[in-house]
Amino acid sequence: MPQMIGYDWTNLRADILGPGHGLTRAELEARREQARVAVGKFLDRVERGEVGFPRLPFQTEPVEQVAQYVRSLRGRYKSVLLLGIGGSALGPYALDVAANGPHPFRKKKIPAELVVVDNVDPLLLHRAMERLDPRKTLVVVVTKSGSTAETMAQFLIAYHWLRKKLGSKRAARQVAAVTDPSKGDLLAIARRKKFELFAIPPNVGGRFSVLTPVGLLPAALVGVNIRRLVQGAGDIAEACRLPELESNPALASALHQYILDTRYGKTIQVIYSYSNTLWALAFWYRQLWAESLGKRVDRSKREVLSGQTPVVALGVTDQHSQSQLYMEGPRDKAVTFWEEATSAHTVRIPKLFGKYDSTGYLGGKTLNELFRAEKSATELALTEAGRPNSTFLFPRADEYYVGQMMMLCMFQAAYAGELYDINAFDQPGVQLSKDLTYALLGRPGFDAERSRIATYRKQKESLEKK
Ligand code: PA5
Repeated sequence: MPQMIGYDWTNLRADILGPGHGLTRAELEARREQARVAVGKFLDRVERGEVGFPRLPFQTEPVEQVAQYVRSLRGRYKSVLLLGIGGSALGPYALDVAANGPHPFRKKKIPAELVVVDNVDPLLLHRAMERLDPRKTLVVVVTKSGSTAETMAQFLIAYHWLRKKLGSKRAARQVAAVTDPSKGDLLAIARRKKFELFAIPPNVGGRFSVLTPVGLLPAALVGVNIRRLVQGAGDIAEACRLPELESNPALASALHQYILDTRYGKTIQVIYSYSNTLWALAFWYRQLWAESLGKRVDRSKREVLSGQTPVVALGVTDQHSQSQLYMEGPRDKAVTFWEEATSAHTVRIPKLFGKYDSTGYLGGKTLNELFRAEKSATELALTEAGRPNSTFLFPRADEYYVGQMMMLCMFQAAYAGELYDINAFDQPGVQLSKDLTYALLGRPGFDAERSRIATYRKQKESLEKK
């Protein structure tokens, strides 16, 4: 039996935090059936094929397709320019940072650098193209809808750049597209230009797509061991389907956060990553939790305004920036620590300046010990202050456990969706801002949005005149 990511939620309990601050045994017992029903309902959706992410680790074809393509390139590219946004960018970035190290503290040998352009601030693409060598750059354009304005604009610019520098034929060979297999303009363009094409299954939405070629392709190109990643995801998937809170960390943590939010006013979940390796993963999670659970209406169209706001913090850096607020500010937060049991490196602190109080006790210890002590100190201080906190413990922060964590978090978001009784898999708010952008820039077919914008502008102007 492979080792699993640990979930320690002792410090969420009222027994340790004090009455009124944490979860009681009685309320957890009372919710047991609700949790069991959530599992049943969600697995029915999976069975009906509505939601595809739980099955991804067991589909070998995408991994093989990606691996074969990457092999065929024989290390031809020094850079991978990833064009995408939201669920089409955060996963690959998290995988790159987890496997190759945070910027600028990168591994010495990486097959290619991943350059993620997930914004349309002109500076980014300008600088990217200034720095990158077009002959040594593979452009990977990722968009499920095949039409997001940011990604399509970046694609036009990057493709034009390649074509100008290398000519049409070669430019087309240096683009790989990841999109829906049956619809969208990117699909049509990719087919026309014969770009290398990878599919995102229709029943896997953006933020749940990291285990499709959305994450697998860029990750494999920059040397991430995608087989270990998928293996980790597959190994924990079984536990994530169990109906018992004790054996299913995704279900237990979903229920805990749900109760903390709806009964105890912990409307903010702070992901406190005591690991730079996992830092980008925390941003991936932030999107998953926010976009999946932040919903105006529930499944019966009743207004609920649901969702817990995810915030990311980095230990120990943010102990000197945020912890004061978490310990003494409003009681509206639940802290979730992410910690590595073993770091990939041990760094000794030399025994120097031993006669001074502030250096003597450090000499001979390791940075690893200091890191662990800081996390324990923060955990203890929060607990003493009656602030709920829990810990996900990664045996190691490598591909295997990142794969486990990604799967766990996706199940957690899905179960939380069932508990809130909302659709965790749509994003009408995101779609609205996409549609309004299309309308503002004159895309055909968005007349309703255009008249909405005109009304808004008139209203605003008349208020400004008053
Ligand atoms: O999770 C989601 O569905 C969104 O965040 C999308 O990933 C994001 O809006 C980008 O969409 P697309 O991949 O269609 O370009």
